[in-house]
Amino acid sequence: MTPALAAAPWRCFGWSARAWSHPWGAFLREHAGWRGRSGLEIGSGVHSSLAPLMLALVQQVECSAHVADSLPMIEARNSALLPAADAKRIRYPVRDLRALRGQWDLIVMKSVLGGVYRTQEASLADVHANVGRLIDQHLTPGGLLVTLDNGRTWLEPLWARFGARRNGWRVFSRGDLPTPDAMYGFGVLGGFSAATRLGAVGRLIDDVLYVADRVLSPLTRRHAVLMHVYRKPP
Ligand SMILES: C[S@@+](CC[C@H](N)C(=O)[O-])C[C@H]1O[C@@H](n2cnc3c(N)ncnc32)[C@H](O)[C@@H]1O
Repeated sequence: MTPALAAAPWRCFGWSARAWSHPWGAFLREHAGWRGRSGLEIGSGVHSSLAPLMLALVQQVECSAHVADSLPMIEARNSALLPAADAKRIRYPVRDLRALRGQWDLIVMKSVLGGVYRTQEASLADVHANVGRLIDQHLTPGGLLVTLDNGRTWLEPLWARFGARRNGWRVFSRGDLPTPDAMYGFGVLGGFSAATRLGAVGRLIDDVLYVADRVLSPLTRRHAVLMHVYRKPP
């Protein structure tokens, strides 16, 4: 990791980056002693890939995308954040969450479950089945599955009025996913990204929302970003 990335890990998190990176920081602190050999990021994107950060925990990472077109851009973005020796520890294959083959010590996905299991096409039972499959079939013993997703806050009806959920994106409440080994939540306002609509000005607004979220987060259990961690028994 370059010193710049070490100082600003949120650069891997895309929209509302500081809010999304907050639970990751808490996860790293609580799993400081955990190390593995192999990692898989599922559904990385051109605006956000956590593979560079996963290198702190595992020796090799497969940074996968669902479609091949985006991989060169994702690789260029990640490589710019890493020293050459670290960049070589990441490979860039195409992988489908629903048709995985193989086992890894660490599997990470950010903003993937909500899109793959949209409300009009799938049920929570489908999400549970997939999480169970990932743990049972694709984690090595002692391995970790980490999923970061949009959480349902008190403001959900407002975001829905802005059209943010028109596409059936699944937003999770605490308790919707199988009971995790560890869970982290953050933010109230960070579920809505101004940057996606207003560019650079929006990014500034997102930063202001993050400061407000630091104040609001401890006051509620309904967080805008939910991170679930599952550990397969050794
Ligand atoms: C909202 S984007 C998130 C991208 C990136 N992880 C991020 O946080 O910006 C959802 C991602 O899930 C990927 N995706 C959709 N269906 C998938 C599938 N069946 N298997 C793996 N990834 C999938 C999409 O290609 C897209 O990259």
